[in-house]
Amino acid sequence: MDMQAAQYGARLWLQTDAAFGLREVPLALPKPTVSSTGKITGRPVQTATVPGRSAYRPAPPVAPRAVAPPTPPSPARAMATPPAEFRRPAAHTLAGSQGADIPRTVKLPPIPDVPIDALEAISAADKASLLAELQQQVIAALTPHLSEIATKVVFGDGDPAAKLMFVGEGPGIEEDRTGIPFVGRSGQLLDKMIVAMGLNRKTVYIGNVVKLRAAEADPDTGRLRDRPPTPAEVALNIPWLHRQIEIIRPRVIVTLGAPALKYLTGTTEGISRLRGTWMTYRGVPLMPTYHPSFLLRAYTPENRAKVWGDLQQVMTKLGLPPAQPK
Ligand code: URA
Repeated sequence: MDMQAAQYGARLWLQTDAAFGLREVPLALPKPTVSSTGKITGRPVQTATVPGRSAYRPAPPVAPRAVAPPTPPSPARAMATPPAEFRRPAAHTLAGSQGADIPRTVKLPPIPDVPIDALEAISAADKASLLAELQQQVIAALTPHLSEIATKVVFGDGDPAAKLMFVGEGPGIEEDRTGIPFVGRSGQLLDKMIVAMGLNRKTVYIGNVVKLRAAEADPDTGRLRDRPPTPAEVALNIPWLHRQIEIIRPRVIVTLGAPALKYLTGTTEGISRLRGTWMTYRGVPLMPTYHPSFLLRAYTPENRAKVWGDLQQVMTKLGLPPAQPK
């Protein structure tokens, strides 16, 4: 990719900042410090700041958030929304944890070792119906875990035969409201990244490690805040992500943030070290990059350039035309 085209692509993406008011999200992460041994410190460790997770304590009760007046659901949303009679009463499930009653010692199922391209071929039409079938299974399995926090199963979105698949960690409040992954602020940024690559949401597939929103009450304010999924939640959900990938068979996977990278590759290395370097998931090239929500918090030209560089590598791998000056 020539320099001019690369710069143009980066400019195109950066120039769209204003469209979503992203400059109003200034919270930069504290600068990391590098010790004499090369150890990076000073970044907030999310798991250490989330009380109550290790014991799976239920979150204190919180007032249910306001519910918008009902609108007729689109077919996609209707699929994601289980019938009301299958939902457990809110009082049972306010913990919002899919794994609240599963012991912490739960082990993650191993990453399947069969290479994706060794699987029997399936047509694009079969991919669509297999994915729809899987979606129904996931909805049935997760329906008992729905709560006031996780009200919908957020299965995935996009082309069932996509060549490019993005994988995030799990839905947030907007995704829970709509049943569609990556539609909140970080999703809007992801959309821009995809468009800058010359693609759009309909030509890629977007999925998550877990399919239900994970959140808990902030002990100080009592307000709900998203939290990382527990090991039990990941153990319950990850086989469905493996199956989604087996059905879609993307030519490239992009993991967004550390959790998706960890759960698809088994790595314990940090995202800062690994982003931008090709890895594989069962023979499929996998590019780790930062999660858009990290970019929103640390929206620096350096971080944006890093992510754009990662995406340019993906474009090259897929044989996509470089962004061209008009
Ligand atoms: N963050 C994710 O990891 N996934 C979503 O769907 C939304 C935000």
